[in-house]
Parts: sequence; structure tokens; C-alpha cells
Amino acid sequence: AEKWVYMVTAQTPTNIAVIKYWGKRDEVRILPVNDSISVTLDPDHLCTVTTVAVSPAFDRDRMWLNGKEISLSGSRYQNCLREIRGRAGDVEDKEKGIRIEKKDWEKLHLHIASHNNFPTAAGLASSAAGFACLVFSLAKLMNVDEDSSHLSAIARQGSGSACRSLFGGFVKWTMGSKGDGSDSVAVQLADEKHWDDLVIIIAVVSSQQKETSSTSGMRESVETSLLLQHRAKEVVPKRIPQMEEAIKNRDFTSFAQLSCADSNQFHAVCLDTSPPIFYMNDTSHRIISLVEKWNRSEGTPQVAYTFDAGPNAVLISRNRKVAVQLLQGLLYYFPPKSDTDMRSYVVGDHSILK
Ligand code: PMV
Repeated sequence: AEKWVYMVTAQTPTNIAVIKYWGKRDEVRILPVNDSISVTLDPDHLCTVTTVAVSPAFDRDRMWLNGKEISLSGSRYQNCLREIRGRAGDVEDKEKGIRIEKKDWEKLHLHIASHNNFPTAAGLASSAAGFACLVFSLAKLMNVDEDSSHLSAIARQGSGSACRSLFGGFVKWTMGSKGDGSDSVAVQLADEKHWDDLVIIIAVVSSQQKETSSTSGMRESVETSLLLQHRAKEVVPKRIPQMEEAIKNRDFTSFAQLSCADSNQFHAVCLDTSPPIFYMNDTSHRIISLVEKWNRSEGTPQVAYTFDAGPNAVLISRNRKVAVQLLQGLLYYFPPKSDTDMRSYVVGDHSILK
């Protein structure tokens, strides 16, 4: 038998929504009830690294997440693999003497190893980085000739928020109107250099796995929350162009007001769901109060907060000076309880606090 292995490694950052995606109109294709806008984090901090390998020696597709083998049988993985395989091209590595033809990909099996450098499923959008990285690395491996927006429509079928991680900077996921989802894709609004004064700090309030997955949470909200209907029809369609303007003009006041209001409305929808979903905890609420008080005392917003499907705070400071003050405030009000906690207070552009 042939002995070769051909592989590709890719690294993909996670993204944090400032106008949230919450609710699907089509659960199979993963089509949302509203547009969303996110910021992609710096690739070195919260990211997934994935290696995909192909060899005639592999007898089935297999995947390992953080060193533990996981099942690929779920429809999300199967959809991504099928879509990428269907677009595979010819691959030739003359140095290694490897030649894979388009038709070979149907028979060849894959081994996939993926690592997150941050807590999985703690509301830090690990699935976003994960599926984006899976789709991107497979597309490279199989020489798929598609642009990032087309790839985003594939990543979307793994996890909705993943489609936004195919781009850096500020990204919009347009919900689209077609039934097949071909126009439900991500587009870049501005690249990572556009607004590089911003400093993002993530306060890890808890690295425990969340109780309600975003999939079942969204389903329950769509089925029971009237506020979700109002949000999707009336609120988000107005906020999206306002947020695009704020980003374009680097208008931090509008950016912060819109981000905080949208995070709060998303959590209000969760509370309006039956049975209610609680993603934030007391510490999350204390962080919100702290930021709100500080912003009010300064006269103009200095820090924006946003929370996903978990208690962890994503804090966006208008500049580095404000970020230093924010860290000092967090250390004062939330002193680390042990040496290990202290070591997690990493000071960098996108620090992780415990
Ligand atoms: O892509 P999912 O299924 O993990 O959903 C993500 C939902 C939120 O993170 C709460 C909001 C968003 O737009 O990322």
C-alpha cells in the first residue's frame, strides 16, 4: 500500500458578536432570523489550530478535539465534509511525489486534530473558531477554489457564528433570503487595521461548560419568546446600519451604546424564553454595573461590554490607556483568590482574566 500522508495546518481566531445572532429560521441549513455583526479577535489569543491529514492508509474519517476522539457522525460535521469534498480539486506535491485527483477525494479518508487554546463551550464562541478552522484547513488541503464568502456559507452549516471567523476585522453575516442559504454569507466590513485603538479584554468569569447549548436555547427562544420576534423584525434591522456607520466612522460612543444595548436585549430574550435561560451570573451583572457607572461618570462611554451564551464578559476599551484603567478596576473589584488565579491575569491586547 502507498505510505504517504499529506497534511495542512491552519489557525483561526474566534469572533465576538456586537450585534447578536440568536434564532434560526432553518435549523438544518443554519439560517438566522436576523443579520449579525462581529469583531474577529487577534489570531494569537483565542484561536483554534487544526491539522487535517489525508492518506490512503486511513480507513475512515476521524477527528480529535483537544486530544480526545470525537464522533464525526453529527450532521454539522457531515454537511461541512460533504460540501468541501464536493468542491475538491487536484492536488500535487512534487517534492513528496504526491498526486491526488479530484475524483480520489471521494474515496480517501481524513484525520482531523483540533485544539482550542481557551475553554470549550463556555460561551467563548469556541465552535465559531472550530468550524471556521475546519472548513478553511480542509479547503486548503483539497485545493478548493472558492473565496472566503463562499467558504463562510459552508462553515455556517457547522455553526452559525463560524461563518464570521473566515474574515478578520469587522464582519457582517447577512441573513439572506434564499431558502437554500446560498446568500446567507459573511462579508468583511473593515479589516483588522481599520480600528486598532480598540483593546479587547475577556474576563473569564467561569470556564465551566454552559448549561443550555446555543442550539437548544435558540430553538426555545424562537418557539416561545415574543421579544425575539420583535427584536428580529424591528430592532436588529435598524441597529445593523447604525453599527456599520459607527464602525466606519470609528465612533466609539455609538459603537458602545449599540453593543451594550444589543447584548442586554439578547439576554432579555433569553429571560423571555420559556423556561427562561440564564447565561449571565452575579459576577457578570456586577461587571455590567461597574462599566455602566464608569461610563456615566466619564460622560462618554469608555468601555463596551458584551456577553454571549455564558457568563464571561467581553470588554472592549476605546484605547490602551482605558484598558489599563479597566484592568486596574477589575483587579480591585475582583481580586484573584489564589496564585493560580493571579497567573491568569495576563496583560496583553486580549487578556484572559480568571
Ligand atoms: O454559532 P452558535 O450556535 O454557537 O451561536 C452563537 C450565538 C451567540 O454567540 C450568542 C451570538 C453570536 O452572534 O455569536
